[in-house]
Amino acid sequence: MSDMDLREDIKTMDQPETFAFSPENQAEVAAIVAKYPQGRQRSAVMPLLDMAQRQSSGWLPRAAMDHVAELLGMPPVRVYEVATFYTMYNLKPVGRLHVQICTNVPCWLRGAPEIVRAAQDVLGVAFGQTTEDGAATLTEVECLGACANAPVMQVNDDLYEDLTYDTAKAVLEALLKGETPPIAGSQAGRRGACPCHGATTLKDLAGDYVAQDSVKESAKPKAKAKTAKSAEAGKETT
Ligand code: FES
Repeated sequence: MSDMDLREDIKTMDQPETFAFSPENQAEVAAIVAKYPQGRQRSAVMPLLDMAQRQSSGWLPRAAMDHVAELLGMPPVRVYEVATFYTMYNLKPVGRLHVQICTNVPCWLRGAPEIVRAAQDVLGVAFGQTTEDGAATLTEVECLGACANAPVMQVNDDLYEDLTYDTAKAVLEALLKGETPPIAGSQAGRRGACPCHGATTLKDLAGDYVAQDSVKESAKPKAKAKTAKSAEAGKETT
């Protein structure tokens, strides 16, 4: 969807007349604003928009942006500038599951088109669309900040990494059925962004780290052997 289409949608969609933070969130707002130095309270705009979005079932009505502007003493247009720049703010309602798929270069090189195909097969919608029952919205994004574990898909607050067509499909099917989905993170068994075939640097530190995971078993003895060798070399030089 182009920016122009989005602007048209926003103009014509039903928007709530008013917005106010819930009592619990009001206390949180005060705590967030207090973190910034005197005169710099406007810097709280992003966390406040995030909180407003969570309170509004995953999207930011215009009244919520206006309320944040008023709280922080900002011209509303400054808040709209922030909300329209970052893709994590949704300016129209989204489904219960917000499925965001990265199609930027690292993910594309590692198979993002297959992940898109899996999502479209499961959800039956294209980018920018929500399923008829409101269960899920599919969104294309430029980067989810987990490029080392490409290809990556985000569902609500969870990142699913190292995906294939089959694993992406399994995650989405489980979520749609309300079943417990596979644990978020790498779907290929590596922990964090550890190299697929075991640590290549900082092996002394990575020994335990690799051993906790299902990353190639063959990487473990090598890491340990290197550790012993390094200790021996250390003895010789002292
Ligand atoms: S390019 Fe896909 S997560 Fe960064």
